[in-house]
Amino acid sequence: MAGILAIGMFLSQGIEDIGARANLIGVDFGSSFMKATLVRPGKKFAIVENTAAKRKTEAMVTLGKENRLFGADSLLASGKYPLTTFAELQRTFGEQFDAELVQKMKEHRFITNEIAADERGVVAWKVTSAGAGGEEPGEELLHSEEVVAMLLQYVKMLAEKQAEASVRECVITVPSWFSYDQRLMIRDAAEQLAGLSVLQLVHENTAAAVLFGIDKVDKEAQNHTVLFYNMGGMDTEVAIVRYSHLNVSEKSKKLTPYIEILAEAHERDLGSKDLDLVLFDILADKFNALKEREGKPDLRTNPRATKRLLKEAAKIKEVLSANKQASVKVPELLDYVTLQLTLERAEMEEKASELFARVTRPIEAALAKAGLSMDEIHQVELLGGGIRTPKVTELLEKALKVKELGVHLNGDEAMCFGSAFIGSNSTMNFKVAAVMLT
Ligand SMILES: Nc1ncnc2c1ncn2[C@@H]1O[C@H](COP(=O)(O)OP(=O)(O)OP(=O)(O)O)[C@@H](O)[C@H]1O
Ligand SMILES: [Mg+2]
Repeated sequence: MAGILAIGMFLSQGIEDIGARANLIGVDFGSSFMKATLVRPGKKFAIVENTAAKRKTEAMVTLGKENRLFGADSLLASGKYPLTTFAELQRTFGEQFDAELVQKMKEHRFITNEIAADERGVVAWKVTSAGAGGEEPGEELLHSEEVVAMLLQYVKMLAEKQAEASVRECVITVPSWFSYDQRLMIRDAAEQLAGLSVLQLVHENTAAAVLFGIDKVDKEAQNHTVLFYNMGGMDTEVAIVRYSHLNVSEKSKKLTPYIEILAEAHERDLGSKDLDLVLFDILADKFNALKEREGKPDLRTNPRATKRLLKEAAKIKEVLSANKQASVKVPELLDYVTLQLTLERAEMEEKASELFARVTRPIEAALAKAGLSMDEIHQVELLGGGIRTPKVTELLEKALKVKELGVHLNGDEAMCFGSAFIGSNSTMNFKVAAVMLT
């Protein structure tokens, strides 16, 4: 990140309105979940709750017969409407249709929808239009931006409901690997289609690092180096961040926090959802091997059963994070055949060995970029839902040779709160204390 950007932090006594009364949101646009923090003049930061009073919303949308369904409702409807349920959007957002990653996703059943290349060669979603006015039903393409804009619009609507006022501005997190074009496209989705003005796009780990700097770092610390490890649904990102304090004023002795992002690295195709796929494969193979399925087609050829089993796999994964075994029961999964069995955590770990072998790779890459060794890292902070898998933390503990990995921030919400902090400064609507970020 070039230059020094002055960003703000709220003074400990809270937010003070010093200008126009504008509300804004910090949006963590994840591949699995959308989370947003609402900033209102004179009020404490608040997480935006969805219609089910949940603090995070599955980043998915279903175009039903008459309405759009979001979050958990979309997940529920995904079995019924597999071809018009759009999920894991961030991983394909703005990607070229023929990119290896996209084709791999199609093969690996992340995408059960029909996809095609739009006029730019970018991934677009095929939907069948109903055939208005008695015309023949036809096929239409939804652009990457259009589907993402539906989610952003939904978040905006929730925030406005909570604020009881309009919300016009936002900061959105993007993965550090997003290209220039992808950044432009997400801006377009927000600004041209969702009616939100984008103050800034920030990397997830940068947003978390700013939040961490606010009250988790000693006020006089110099060269305090922290490694942020963030395993989300579909990628793993690492940032090495150095916190110092500088005296930038000749008049006062007051120290200003100085945050340097020393290096970033990522593993684009390593996320917790990849573990869902491993579990899906175990379960699909077991289902196909049932006596009742002899001579019948592979479950994977059926979009509805595939969606249902993927949903079950995600659930089982969470059970296996807390228990060594899980009972699986999917009634009438396909052709009235029920899948019922007990699955061991050890079996999942064995089948996922290729994934686990890559858990520490972005750490090595980030250390190499920063020219640092692990001995020079003072703290490790874990973020994202993926770190709840016991094998992941076990591998990190071993590799990092630290007894305790830090979880000082709320690993689910640090990114949206951090972006809200960054956004509140950009508007100059709030009284803020200076922090320097490079
Ligand atoms: N207890 C758990 N055990 C294992 N995995 C979990 C657990 N709880 C959540 N997860 C997984 O964490 C993932 C979501 O994490 P997170 O909210 O950090 O993702 P995201 O920010 O949407 O994704 P990304 O940052 O990759 O775009 C999901 O795949 C979810 O299944
Ligand atoms: Mg994330």
